[in-house]
Amino acid sequence: MLLLTSIEDMVAWTRATRREGLSIGLVPTMGYLHEGHLTLMRTAKAACDRVVVSIFVNPMQFGVGEDFEEYPRDLSRDQALAASVGVDVIFAPTVRGMYPNGFASAVEVQGLTDGLCGAARPGHFRGVTTVVCKLLNIVAPDNAYFGQKDAQQVAVIRRMVLDLNMLLTVVTVPIVREADGLALSSRNVYLSPEDRQAALVLFRALTAAQAAVEAGERDATVLRRLMIELIAQEPRAEVDYVAIVDNLNLQPLEKLEGACLLALAVRFGKTRLIDNLVVEV
Ligand code: PAJ
Repeated sequence: MLLLTSIEDMVAWTRATRREGLSIGLVPTMGYLHEGHLTLMRTAKAACDRVVVSIFVNPMQFGVGEDFEEYPRDLSRDQALAASVGVDVIFAPTVRGMYPNGFASAVEVQGLTDGLCGAARPGHFRGVTTVVCKLLNIVAPDNAYFGQKDAQQVAVIRRMVLDLNMLLTVVTVPIVREADGLALSSRNVYLSPEDRQAALVLFRALTAAQAAVEAGERDATVLRRLMIELIAQEPRAEVDYVAIVDNLNLQPLEKLEGACLLALAVRFGKTRLIDNLVVEV
């Protein structure tokens, strides 16, 4: 497995690989890899001749007072994990390489970024779409892989790829969870043992709402209240949002119909966790 840190080296590899007629899959990450990331890589490996994993903690998508500095980093551990699933290249550019002096551009998707995590994290998705656009230009993959864990991120990236005629296929991979239901996240390492236990309330709230939908409930207000009340039983949890939106346009729903996204963000101390579930009605 290759470790490339310069953009020029990455572009040279991309060009050589394309000349050989080989297909490329890209898995963008911020590192501190876990089984969720590895599932994206295995999915890419099954479909593409070569798999590139980018590891870049992107300062542009962190707001003031967010955890950019503290975000967990461990490149040698990440290298071993990526190698174990057959990744061909790790691309780990520097902040200076990606954002040199004079950098002045951005990619912005409107509308889809207003609600949910976009409301709580102004500028976050502008940072995500800008860095993902750069990574897609550098690696020029046939396929790029994203997790359903970040449901709004996938919707926003799909919109960008469609709107800007980017010539690749976006593949969404289902959420990978711990045995007890907690969605895997690099940020789970921030949780104290008490918060780790309390964090199970996210999945519990989502599955309770899902069960209510299966029992016939269609009123979004009732379902939201059900989730909010369930989370309120956990004193360590502080709700950021609990939303029920259309899975494609992310607009809030009053009555559930079609593919509906149940999405929530909950804080445990300084750690903010997100989770979601799609229900088909
Ligand atoms: P990061 O949080 O490292 O996640 C990288 C990819 O792994 C994302 O597509 C995310 O949705 C996916 N992922 C994370 N946890 C998952 C889980 N439990 N199950 C399935 N997939 C999971 O998301 C980012 O990085 C960044 O915003 C990035 C797209 C790399 C741009 O900087």
